[in-house]
Amino acid sequence: MKIIVTGGAGFIGGNFVHYMTNKYPDYKIICLDALTYAGNMETLEPVINKPSFKFIKGDIADRELIYKLFEEEKPDVIVNFAAESHVDRSITNPDIFLRTNIIGTSVLLDACRKYGIKRYHQVSTDEVYGDLPLDRTDLFFTEETPIHTSSPYSASKASADLLVQAYYRTFKVPVTISRCSNNYGPYHFPEKLIPLMIANALNDKELPVYGKGENVRDWLYVEDHCIAIDLIIHKGRVGEVYNIGGHNERTNLEVVKTILKELGKSESLIKYVTDRPGHDMRYAIDPTKIHNELGWEPKTLFDEGIKKTIKWYLENKKWWENIISGEYQNYYEKMYANR
Ligand code: NAD
Ligand code: TYD
Repeated sequence: MKIIVTGGAGFIGGNFVHYMTNKYPDYKIICLDALTYAGNMETLEPVINKPSFKFIKGDIADRELIYKLFEEEKPDVIVNFAAESHVDRSITNPDIFLRTNIIGTSVLLDACRKYGIKRYHQVSTDEVYGDLPLDRTDLFFTEETPIHTSSPYSASKASADLLVQAYYRTFKVPVTISRCSNNYGPYHFPEKLIPLMIANALNDKELPVYGKGENVRDWLYVEDHCIAIDLIIHKGRVGEVYNIGGHNERTNLEVVKTILKELGKSESLIKYVTDRPGHDMRYAIDPTKIHNELGWEPKTLFDEGIKKTIKWYLENKKWWENIISGEYQNYYEKMYANR
């Protein structure tokens, strides 16, 4: 089996590459990544010398490169993680989100159509469903919840989802889609809530909480996402959407306070800052379908996962200090100064 993992130098794709190379030493795993600001070869250090692994630097929206790759490698499966993934960046600069997330997906789908494939898997997000009200804790996203997006990021991911479904119906490309809730764990880029708060707390810097910190996310330990995708590409039904996540809901403030407590830091580091425009209130997944069909359920609950994650950041300071000491400082200044 030969699998192309796009975006494998990023957070979830990197964890997936580690997981798959360990679990299936006989599979050939090819990582295609453009190495944007979010891609990091240090994330691939544990696998880079494995004979079953190959890294190729390239852009999923580069049609010539993608066709050549398909022609040469003849992959069985594509798992598409490659994306611009940060909501705040999509608010300041939507263009690149359209190019990578929509055009990039369409180029991959065209290649699948042209060269043939056993499975194309699209790594989507629960953000395509929009948000749920805080006072309706009885409501959850199911696969039937209408697509209703809020940010340029979620709109671009929803567009990609719709294209994937269109290529299944019109051209019979054998696709699956997963829509996962917020992930956390090792190798998470420090622009996102959990690693940002861990890094700032360790450096005794203010922790910028948007609005009142009452927004709710349904946190999933990244390994559980990898396990779910592995199940879907091997046993999932072609043409189907699977929600991944479930029942690890926390407010942002709860998350931040848990991190401070674990690190023995004071809550006085919390600074309430101007809210994100269009900020989604609550995400919450109903994972009944993937549970019933594929037997998946999260192995790591939040209270354990957050401890493991903090431990990883403490033991791998070099990985994130290299990031936050570089170009990231300009980003941080632009995003948070005078906020
Ligand atoms: P990330 O930003 O950490 O990594 C994205 C990776 O894609 C990087 O390595 C980057 O270099 C690469 N990339 C970007 N543009 C590219 C292009 N044009 N061609 C090739 N590679 C390119 O993102 P992540 O958090 O690991 O998310 C991975 C996928 O999972 C995304 O599709 C995202 O929408 C989805 N997702 C993320 C979450 C989450 O909580 N992080 C939740 C649900 C779904
Ligand atoms: P984020 O990690 O960006 O993921 P998403 O917006 O895709 O859910 O943010 C998670 C939550 O944390 C979201 O409600 C916004 C909030 N947040 C802050 O309060 N402060 C921050 O500095 C960041 C990055 C996020």
